[in-house]
Amino acid sequence: MSADLANRILDNIDLGVIVVDTEERIILFNPAAQVATGWSERQARGRPCGDILRGGDKLKRLIGEALARGRSISSPDRLILRRADGCELPVNMSVSPLLDTDGSLQGATVILKDLRQLVSLEESARSSDRMNTIDTLAAGLAHEIRNPLGGIRGAAQLLAKELADRADLAEYTEVMVREVDRVSGILEELANLTRPRPLKTGAVDLTSLLDRIILLERQAHAADAIEFILQVDPSIPPIEGDEEMLHRLFLNLIRNAAEAIGNNGRVRVGTRIRPDLRLHRPAGRPVPLVEVTVSDNGPGIPAEVEKRIFTPFFTTKKQGTGLGLSICQRIVTEHHGMIQLKTRPGHGTTFTVSLPLISPGNKEA
Ligand SMILES: Nc1ncnc2c1ncn2[C@@H]1O[C@H](COP(=O)(O)OP(=O)(O)O)[C@@H](O)[C@H]1O
Ligand SMILES: [Mg+2]
Repeated sequence: MSADLANRILDNIDLGVIVVDTEERIILFNPAAQVATGWSERQARGRPCGDILRGGDKLKRLIGEALARGRSISSPDRLILRRADGCELPVNMSVSPLLDTDGSLQGATVILKDLRQLVSLEESARSSDRMNTIDTLAAGLAHEIRNPLGGIRGAAQLLAKELADRADLAEYTEVMVREVDRVSGILEELANLTRPRPLKTGAVDLTSLLDRIILLERQAHAADAIEFILQVDPSIPPIEGDEEMLHRLFLNLIRNAAEAIGNNGRVRVGTRIRPDLRLHRPAGRPVPLVEVTVSDNGPGIPAEVEKRIFTPFFTTKKQGTGLGLSICQRIVTEHHGMIQLKTRPGHGTTFTVSLPLISPGNKEA
């Protein structure tokens, strides 16, 4: 096998391949290992593998054992790897001794399998079961409720006209119209969730999209002391996506952040390219990711809330629908991206959306 072919295999394989010498120093670190660990090859090379493969000593112990005994060892169950950014990643790991042509031990080859894809597939399978029941129920309900609601709204407006000279009653008809509109809004969101339209993809300029949303939200919160900060990487090219859907996605996240804060705090929205992270696709070259973060310095999310946060109808708000994040997750998945959150109760929350950096009309970019 030519060295060139071997290198191409290492570059394209979906498994993290890490080679260490007998001192346990890293001498090879393929792109999938960079994606899994969050460390670049430059950072990893020459470092003791314990610095990079963090998260309990089980990972390091397996390598030590393979080197000491000169035979292959793999982890029987999932291990947790702590990435460079502090996130935890479920992985499988196997280690094989690397022998020189004369049979002497030269080091070890570590294979890391990122189980995250698996975890999220399991999770989405579970939530898609739930969605099927909800889909049918919701579509039926929405249909049945929409018409009578229109009737109630119309009647309330007529009533308001009839009672034009009774200023003391105006408040009641206003409540009727407002609440009917709120229910219609919920039905609308429900329809978005249960009957999503196919994506209409085109070129989306994330900077101007986020600019517009922030402008809107600044106006909506003009009375509050919420500071909206936008920090973009101006070099990010337009990406292929559905503008309206991406607008809805980021609006939901930014609104949630503002709602979490109440009337005094800071919402920070940022974009950047992660050249160190690449999305491996079954047919095509790995593509870099664009990361959009929405951070707030609100109260954070308690663990028991965090577990249910993407479940349709889960809300902790009096006027909430609990559909916002379910819709966000759907949109991100349809764009082949990921959505993650990090929260520190008492300090705030950051939602991170990672989208593949695919240039419009050039799917292999
Ligand atoms: N930035 C945030 N900070 C704190 N809690 C949040 C944040 N974003 C979402 N949440 C929690 O997640 C729940 C679900 O959010 P979502 O699906 O958008 O529905 P809704 O906003 O209608 O409640 C919220 O009710 C809230 O408890
Ligand atoms: Mg919301």
